Order: sequence, then C-alpha cells, then structure tokens
Amino acid sequence: MKFDDLLERTAGLRWNEPLERLAGARLQRLADPHGSLAGLRQAAGARADVAAEVAAAFTVGETWFHRFGEQLDAAALALRALGRPARVWSAGCSTGEEVYALLGACLRAGVDARALGTDLNPDAVAVAAGGVYTQRALRDAPPDRVARVFAPDGPQVRVKPDVRARARFGVHNLLRPAPEAGFDVISCRNVLIYFTPGAAQQACEHLIGALAPGGLLLLAPSDPRPPVTETLEQVRVGGTVLLRRAPHPLPARVPAPPPVLPASRPVTPPEPSAEPDLAQARQRAFVSPHDPQAQLDLARAFLRAGQPARAAASLRAAEAQLGGRGESWETAHLRAQSAQVQRAVRDAGGDA
Ligand SMILES: C[S@@+](CC[C@H](N)C(=O)[O-])C[C@H]1O[C@@H](n2cnc3c(N)ncnc32)[C@H](O)[C@@H]1O
Repeated sequence: MKFDDLLERTAGLRWNEPLERLAGARLQRLADPHGSLAGLRQAAGARADVAAEVAAAFTVGETWFHRFGEQLDAAALALRALGRPARVWSAGCSTGEEVYALLGACLRAGVDARALGTDLNPDAVAVAAGGVYTQRALRDAPPDRVARVFAPDGPQVRVKPDVRARARFGVHNLLRPAPEAGFDVISCRNVLIYFTPGAAQQACEHLIGALAPGGLLLLAPSDPRPPVTETLEQVRVGGTVLLRRAPHPLPARVPAPPPVLPASRPVTPPEPSAEPDLAQARQRAFVSPHDPQAQLDLARAFLRAGQPARAAASLRAAEAQLGGRGESWETAHLRAQSAQVQRAVRDAGGDA
C-alpha cells in the first residue's frame, strides 16, 4: 500500500521504499482503529488529522546536538553585529537538539538570542520542549559546549533553565506560510532533502520570506539549495559560506533573475552572483567533501586561478557524488553546472 501522493500533498515528502519500510510499524499502529492499511489510507484521504499522523509516521527525525556545529558558530558570530536581541528559527527541529545548539552558539558568541523550534511531528516537538536527552544526543560535542547548555540529570542531561527559557516550540508544516517573520537566522538543515522538488521550492519561498533583511538561511551541504538570486546571496563568515537575504536589492550582476527554485523542470542555472574565492572554495570542499556543489565551486575556483588539472580533479569528485543520485531538481541543477564546468575545463586544456 503506497502512500506516495498523500505524503507529498500533506507534507511535501518524497515517497520511497526504504521510507515506507521505516514507517511500517508506526503505520500498522495507526491502521489498527481503521481495520487495515487500506482503511487508514481512506481515512487519511478524508481527514486532515489522520493525514497528518500518516505524514508524521514517515518523517526521519535523526538529529544530534553537535551536528555541523561550525555552521552554527559562524551564524552566531555574524549575529554579533546586530546590536539587539536576535531571533532564530530552527524549522524542522525534530527533537530540538539543533535549537539548543543554536542558543549555545549564540551564548558563546555573546549574542542575546531567542529561538523558535518547529516540526511537523508533534511527538518530536514534545521531546524538544521537555529538553531531556540521552548521552547519545551529545556525541562528538566538545565538553565545554555541552556544559554551557546542559546539566546532568541522572544518566541523562537536561537543558539548563536559562537556556530553556530562551526557546519556544510548536508544530508547523513547512508547506504552510511561516508562523512568524523577521528572523535573523533560519536553520532548515536536513529537512528539504526529503521533499519533492516542488515542495522544496514552496518551503524555501516561505523560509526566505520569513527572514529579516540581511538574515541568514542555514542549509546542510546535501540539501537542495535555492539559487543565489537578487534576494539571496552567498557570504563568507569565518571559514563558512552562508546564504543571506540581501539587505537591499543587489546591483544586477545577474542579468535575468531566475525563479526561486525552479519546479521539477531541469533548467540551466545562471552563474552564481558571488563565487567563493579559491581559499573559501577549498575550505568548503574540505569541510564537505561529499557535497557536489562544493566540488563544483572548487573546480570553478581552480579554473579562475589557471589550474585546469586541479579543476578536472574536483569535477571528477563532483561527478562521482552525482553518479548514484536519482533525478530531482537539485540533481538536474548540479548536472547542468557540471556540464558547464566540463566544457570550461576542456577549453582550458584540462583532462575532463
Ligand atoms: C532529519 S530531521 C532534521 C533535524 C535537524 N534540523 C538536524 O539537521 O539535525 C528532519 C525533520 O524534518 C521534519 N519535517 C519533515 N517534513 C516536514 C514538514 N513538511 N514540515 C516541517 N517539518 C518537517 C521531520 O519531522 C524531522 O523531524
């Protein structure tokens, strides 16, 4: 019994076999009152509350406190310049570790911040609001970071009251307009990767619209990215490249602004308006070696630096990452870039 259309309509999620296997036991439990999976499907088609439960059963809530912590540190550093309390939103926060990590990064940077954490899955939101975690949630985290945010609670840890007081939580579906606006940072990491291209586009539009001018959008390296446009630019903070909503329209270096995230139709993307320099591109490819976008950016940076052989090596690394991927908006976007880089490497005398 496939729930594919229901999943996409309700939560923007892309169905696949492993996801359905993962949801199997949860779906069976939901099906009990309806007699069968077919009965559950019928009920979900008729009732939004049942559809929401089915969608929540398909979510992947894997998260941990120190997940790509350097990106949160970079965002917190950028917030220092605000000169007023910062508003941050973890959109798709799962069980909340990311919310507390963002707040911890802000506290370490001396930034007074308030955080909103939202997720589609109400069970995950309840855990987030409880603020109690096992040691597993803290894996790889440096002890001083843990100590700023958590206090021991038997074999577990509990978020300290001064940190907990800065966080609010709620259930929110990213297909709907943002619950609030004017955020200085929105982190939506490892969420859009599960979305269909059309749903990722819709969610991105909501997220960008909820950013304050100059606000930062944090995505994970493997997430689909909205193209850099007049409203969204790449900036380098510390060693990390972040996406920022332009404080005011940028001078038009991009001739014809593309639509924000083209739907499912593959398109040839424009050249990004702010290419990272070689040092930035190297740093990003070092931090995210499996991110094809980072490898393509590095290939272009090598080309600009007159190093076609190195550009060819980065291109091969990007293509190796793209090889096993199914078709999606993001893959089409990356393949189009890869073809452009390949032509440029050949023109420069490299072995593409
Ligand atoms: C893998 S977790 C990511 C958690 C955290 N952001 C991180 O990077 O560690 C993905 C989360 O996205 C949530 N999610 C999936 N679809 C959603 C939707 N349509 N609206 C809001 N949250 C959604 C899931 O419930 C899940 O908790």
